[in-house]
Amino acid sequence: MRIEFGVTSHTPGTALVVFAAKDAVLSGAAQALDAALGGAVANAVKTARFEGDVAQIVELLAPSGTDASRVLVVGTGKPGHADAAIFERIGGALAARLLTSGETKATVDFGGLSDLALDTPKAAAHLALGASLRAWRFDKYRTKLPEKQKPTLTEIAIANAGSAGQEWARLEPLVEAVGFTRSLVTEPGNVIYPESFVERCRPLADLGIKIEVLDESEMRAAGMGALLGVAQGSAKPPRLLVMEWDGTNGKAKTSTVFVGKGVTFDTGGISIKPAAGMEDMKWDMGGAGAVAGAMKALALRRAKARVVGICGLVENMPDGNAQRPGDVVTTMSGQTVEVINTDAEGRLVLCDAITWVQKRFNPEVIVDLATLTGAIIISLGHEYAGLFSNSDELAKQLVTAGIATGDKLWRFPLGSAYDKMIDSPIADMKNVGSRDAGSITAAQFIGRFVNDGVKWAHLDIAGMAWSAKAGATWEKGATGYGVRLLDRFVEDTLEA
Ligand code: BES
Ligand code: MN
Ligand code: ZN
Repeated sequence: MRIEFGVTSHTPGTALVVFAAKDAVLSGAAQALDAALGGAVANAVKTARFEGDVAQIVELLAPSGTDASRVLVVGTGKPGHADAAIFERIGGALAARLLTSGETKATVDFGGLSDLALDTPKAAAHLALGASLRAWRFDKYRTKLPEKQKPTLTEIAIANAGSAGQEWARLEPLVEAVGFTRSLVTEPGNVIYPESFVERCRPLADLGIKIEVLDESEMRAAGMGALLGVAQGSAKPPRLLVMEWDGTNGKAKTSTVFVGKGVTFDTGGISIKPAAGMEDMKWDMGGAGAVAGAMKALALRRAKARVVGICGLVENMPDGNAQRPGDVVTTMSGQTVEVINTDAEGRLVLCDAITWVQKRFNPEVIVDLATLTGAIIISLGHEYAGLFSNSDELAKQLVTAGIATGDKLWRFPLGSAYDKMIDSPIADMKNVGSRDAGSITAAQFIGRFVNDGVKWAHLDIAGMAWSAKAGATWEKGATGYGVRLLDRFVEDTLEA
C-alpha cells in the first residue's frame, strides 16, 4: 500500500473518505461534501441508520455532483475518544472494504475533523498503519485466484491532516516488519524449517543486524541436550539463530534479549497429536517469527538501542530416532529433565536457548515468546497473551506496551507451589505437570533456567499468533502478534 500525505484534493475517479462522529455528526469536510451533493451524504447516513460508531461505514456509489467514484463516510465514535487504536481500526475497516472493491486509490479527508483524543497528524499516521496492516495478504500459492478476489487498492492519500511525516516515519517500518513475521508464520512446514527460517532472516544483515547461526554440532558442543532431544526425531537439522541490533554505536551493552520458540512444525513427536487440526502446528514458530520481525522493525527504524533476538529452531517429529516418553535429557544448564510428554517440546527448546543467551550476553532482561500451551487458549481465548514474570516492573512495562500497541497481555501468577508440580522422581524435573495450571507449570519450567537477578518475562502467545477470523488490522491467519509489542517495549525502556 502506498501512503501519501499532504494532498489537498482528491483524484477524480477514485474513492473519497470523510468522517462522522457519534450520532452521525458530519466533519467539516463531510458537511461541505454533503452541501455539494445536495444533501446526499446526510440522506445516505439516515437511510443506512448510520450512527457514527467507530469504523462503521456508509458507502455512496458514484454519487452525482462529485467526480469521486464513491464516497465513504466512516465513524469516529464519541467526541474526544478517538485515539491511535481507534484510527488503526478505522484504517483497517477502510482497507477491508476497499481492498478488492475495484478502487485503486482512496483519499481520506481529515478537513474539519475535531475533538479527537490525539492530534490530526498522529491520527492520520495510525489510520495509514491500520490500513496497511489490514491490507496484507498471502496469495503466493493461489495460482487460480479469481480476478475479482485480487486486491485493487494500492494507494491511500491523506488530505488536510497537516504534516504527518514524522509520525509515519516511526510507524511505517512496522508494516514491513509485521508482514515479515506473518509470512514466516503463514508458510507451511515444508517451506519453513530451521535452515530455511535462517535463510529468510539472513537478509536482515543488509539492515545492519549481525547474524550468527549455531548448527547441530555447535549446539552439541554447547551441551544443549534438551533442544537436541526434540530435534532428533526430525530429518531437518536444528539451528540456533542469533540476531543482534546495535543502534548505539557500541555505547550500550546488550541488556535486553528476546528469545523465540521456533518449532517449525509440531507433530507432538512420539506423544503424537491428533490428526484433526494438526496443520495449525506450522505456526508453532510464532514466537521466533515475532522475535525476527521485531528485530527487523528495530533495524528499519534505526532504533537507538542494543538488543539481541535469538530463535530456537527445531522440528518436532516422531521418526525412529525420536526421543521417547520417559527419556532423561541433560540441558545446557546441567539440570536434567525427564521427558514425560514429547509434545511439551517448546519448553525444552527455550530452556537451552535461554541458558545459551545468558552465558553469551549476560543480559539484565529476558523476554521469551512462545506458542507454548493449549491451556493458555482455554484461559484467555484470543484476546490476550499470557504474561508470566519474576519482576513486577518488567511485567508492568510489557502490559503498558501491550495496551499502547494492541498486542495485549494478561499476567498470571508464578510460585513455589506450582513449581513443585514439575518435580520428577528420577531427574531434576519433568517437562509436564498434571493437567492443572498447564500454562503456569510450563512457565515454571522455563523459570528454572533463568539466572538469579535476571528480570524475565515469558509470553505465551499460543492464542494470538494465528486468528481463525479477520480482526481490525489483520486478515484471518497470521497476526504478527508480538512485533509491535517488542518494538514499543524497546522504545519505552531503552530509548527513553
Ligand atoms: N505448540 C503446542 C501448544 C499449542 C497448542 C499452540 C495449540 C497453539 C495451539 C505445544 O507444544 C504443546 O503441544 N503443548 C501441550 C503441552 C502438554 C503436552 C503439557 C499442550 O498444550 O497440549
Ligand atoms: Mn507440542
Ligand atoms: Zn509446540
